[in-house]
Amino acid sequence: MRKRRARFELGPAPYTAPGPHEIVVRTRAVAVNPVDAIAGPAYRVVVPWLRYPAIIGSDVAGEVVEAGAAVTRFAPGDRVLGHAMALEKSQNRAAEGAYQHYVVVMEHMASAIPESLSFEQAAVLPLTLSTAATGMFQRDHLGLEFPTAAPARQNAVVLVWGAATGVGMNATQLAKNAGYDVVATASPRTAEKVRALGADAVVDRTVPDVVEQLVRHIGDRALAGTMAIGRGSLAPCIDVAARTTGSRRVASSQPDPASRLRGRLAARRAIDVSFIWGGTLKDNEVGPAVYRDFLPGALASGAFRAEPRARVVGEGLAALPDALARVRAGGISAEKIVVTV
Ligand SMILES: NC(=O)c1ccc[n+]([C@@H]2O[C@H](COP(=O)([O-])OP(=O)(O)OC[C@H]3O[C@@H](n4cnc5c(N)ncnc54)[C@H](OP(=O)(O)O)[C@@H]3O)[C@@H](O)[C@H]2O)c1
Repeated sequence: MRKRRARFELGPAPYTAPGPHEIVVRTRAVAVNPVDAIAGPAYRVVVPWLRYPAIIGSDVAGEVVEAGAAVTRFAPGDRVLGHAMALEKSQNRAAEGAYQHYVVVMEHMASAIPESLSFEQAAVLPLTLSTAATGMFQRDHLGLEFPTAAPARQNAVVLVWGAATGVGMNATQLAKNAGYDVVATASPRTAEKVRALGADAVVDRTVPDVVEQLVRHIGDRALAGTMAIGRGSLAPCIDVAARTTGSRRVASSQPDPASRLRGRLAARRAIDVSFIWGGTLKDNEVGPAVYRDFLPGALASGAFRAEPRARVVGEGLAALPDALARVRAGGISAEKIVVTV
């Protein structure tokens, strides 16, 4: 439980029955995202609408215990992952926070997971998957084709800057499963991992000629769109989009004021920059296209992997304050901090 001016507290929370299109998940694992770990007043800038005391957390994996009257896809006992929506302005509801034993999840933002996928590994996906999917498939962002089990080849390139982030690993895999070529950036320590997820070319994001190298790798293929992920990603992505053919749309995961200004200035170069909020897919066709139509089959077939690797740092909700502090401290590479419950 997060209080307005205080640190996290562990406390009792009521059981909330699901609405017609919701399920209740018995939590087995939760993951920590950078947004959860933001401290003090900065947190209130990110989610100014949030009512306190709040139960936060977006990433949950566990078993369905109850399904709403209109739910046909899930039954008690099913193993699932879900994007918990407590933080969304439209929800703002503690019952939908991941960091509790029984979490209300929207049916169309949950996916069945195969036996071969552990709860802790499944929990790494939801928010970063949603953020990647929002940027790539929503019509107000890149508007790419949806991923399917047998995608048509698109003959176009998706540029994924920051492909070693959780968002980037999901973006890379979604793009491949939608039939696109992927040109990516990562540091040398994670380049191999990004290649293993399907990126056709990986450029070191830290070298001075990174833009030149990306332009060369894209060559005369058309860009389908650009995902700018991570601090400092927007400026070089705008440069690449301005120097290649095809889509001039760049979707950024960094909606800070400096990036927004940079985005407005890019319009002068005919580059269309949009800023992602990773929960908006719940209100349009993208949420069900990913969580209902694509992900369950793709996880079962191995066409899509739950990445990055889960690093379990504790057991029980009482381990969460330390887990949050760990994320706040930074320095985590190609791993996601997870707590089992
Ligand atoms: N707008 C939204 O709704 C939304 C939602 C979720 C996340 N985000 C943002 O998206 C970004 C990624 O989040 P995440 O949870 O996926 O991250 P993450 O998994 O914690 O990212 C860790 C990885 O990022 C790479 N990295 C470090 N600094 C970078 C930089 N400046 N540019 C690109 N990559 C960098 C590192 O790999 P290498 O050094 O090997 O490249 C590291 O392995 C964060 O900035 C986060 O705040 C936005």
